Amino acid sequence: MCGICAGIGHENQIDDVVCGLKKLEYRGYDSSGIAFLKNGEIQAIKSVGQIKNLEKKIDDEVCSHVVIGHTRWATHGSVCEENAHPHISQNGEFAMVHNGIVENFENLKGNLNCNFKSQTDTEVFVNLVEAESGTPLERLMKASRKVVGSFAVALLHKNTNSIFLAKRKSPLMVAVGKDGVFAGSDISVFAGKFDFCYIFEDDEFAIMEEDGVKFFDLNGNQISKKAVDIRDFDFYDEDLNEDFYMLKEIKEQPAALRKTYFKFFSEGLQFDFEAIKKFKSFHFIACGTAYHSCLLGAQFIQQFCKKDCKVSIASEFRYGSNIYSKNCLYVFVSQSGETADTMACASLVKEKGLKVMCVTNVPYCSLNKLADFVLPTFAGREVAVASTKAYTTQVFTLLIFALFLNDKATRLQDELKRFVLNLENLQFNECLLEEISKFKKIFFIGREQDYVSALEGALKLKEIAYLNCLGMPAGELKHGTLALIDPQTLVIAISTQRALKGKMESNIEEIKARGGKVLLISNFKHNVETDFFVELPDFDEMFMPIVSIIPLQQLALNFALKLGYNPDKPRNLAKSVTVE
Ligand code: M6R
Repeated sequence: MCGICAGIGHENQIDDVVCGLKKLEYRGYDSSGIAFLKNGEIQAIKSVGQIKNLEKKIDDEVCSHVVIGHTRWATHGSVCEENAHPHISQNGEFAMVHNGIVENFENLKGNLNCNFKSQTDTEVFVNLVEAESGTPLERLMKASRKVVGSFAVALLHKNTNSIFLAKRKSPLMVAVGKDGVFAGSDISVFAGKFDFCYIFEDDEFAIMEEDGVKFFDLNGNQISKKAVDIRDFDFYDEDLNEDFYMLKEIKEQPAALRKTYFKFFSEGLQFDFEAIKKFKSFHFIACGTAYHSCLLGAQFIQQFCKKDCKVSIASEFRYGSNIYSKNCLYVFVSQSGETADTMACASLVKEKGLKVMCVTNVPYCSLNKLADFVLPTFAGREVAVASTKAYTTQVFTLLIFALFLNDKATRLQDELKRFVLNLENLQFNECLLEEISKFKKIFFIGREQDYVSALEGALKLKEIAYLNCLGMPAGELKHGTLALIDPQTLVIAISTQRALKGKMESNIEEIKARGGKVLLISNFKHNVETDFFVELPDFDEMFMPIVSIIPLQQLALNFALKLGYNPDKPRNLAKSVTVE
């Protein structure tokens, strides 16, 4: 995780770098900091917590044309100012911001004769640079050769009016404008200021100067790179017009789904469905919420295309004894396209010479670069850590994908359109929240596609309201978990498939018989009394996983707010999980 950015230009860069850090805050918010050149010296300002704390420490008169910045998600060492980046080398020659992990930092540390002030791997890296000889770039390259692990770094040298960049595995990009050069961990830092950017490949280096950027390979040879056009990138909806990004993003779902529909059916999205049809089976791989999208994607393909599908959690697939097949398409779903476990599995599959497809929401992300087929989602930028609109657009995209593979999409086009035009944002009843917020033990149950909503609903509640809850298949309750049901337990039952209504009714009866309370979420009436009921609008069954999750997202959000938590920045999490 962690986000880095750096700016060098004719004007003061402090504000631009702080503004860039705010865009990257989703990558971690344990601490943040900047370092800059001032009269031939390196100065640093750091703060624990969110970037607004850092801003308070930066006086108006602080000014520099050469600035690097960092927002941290702690990996090595606790959350404190000493461990906050930038880290300055022992003799004060260099300052470094780093996203990634130096896996061999303990070994490297043993060979350096330094008094380390922090517990971080980055302080080892910057001292490694200082210990080398040559120009600053040569010293950075020599140090990088000794590092095992991942890094995107920006480095200041106190006597050089430049910023040095290096990348291996962690994302890094740089853009050149008329007023200077800017670099960052993702494309959002360029919003509104640059039309093109350069995306680093592994083991590429660069020197940023006021008037441009020069790129080098690991041997120090200057290389030329092609800039990519970022004018089409959706920067538009980043401003917060609600109290929280999560609320804004929940409300944006109908619009994001409409956009997805129009991309496929009237804006001529280019995708080679014919090539995909040749595969006999599919293996979906992802983490967290994206894994839940995969469960639904697999159900859609099995239902509509009658092709065999497997679904794996990336961190399990990676070390598992998988059976590989060239007739199988390996599909990686990831909002960010940077998740370390997902990326590692995609690389593993590529190394075996097999085909990789990815479904991602961020253009030019690392996953897109190694995939043979890229299917974009059109959620727009998702800022809140808890995924909402990225999830529903993934599910909708995978549904349309499955329909196209079975040539059903065009036939069902009107139905898809009716769905996106009629779906409203669904509110969660405040009084109901009052009632159910007294429960400390909550289970989510459902069958088939509703089971996926149960998993995702429970994940949302854990993630932002810190409630100990569990999503599980309704039919599994009686195989153990029923022992936990008592009058203090709330079971949220999701039931949107008419063929499974009777089965769900039996499960609800079993819970009631043990004194458990039930909140039923459904688009039709059931022949069983429940304590609470949320009525969903009635759409075709294939759309119901998208419909049923929205009140569950609302529930988690309202729960978190009621408990006094900031839903956008849940503890211990970051949006882009670039550690394994
Ligand atoms: O960027 P990705 O979709 O690969 O992220 C995967 C998970 O880390 C992510 O979905 C996580 O589970 C969400 N924060 C859940 O809301």
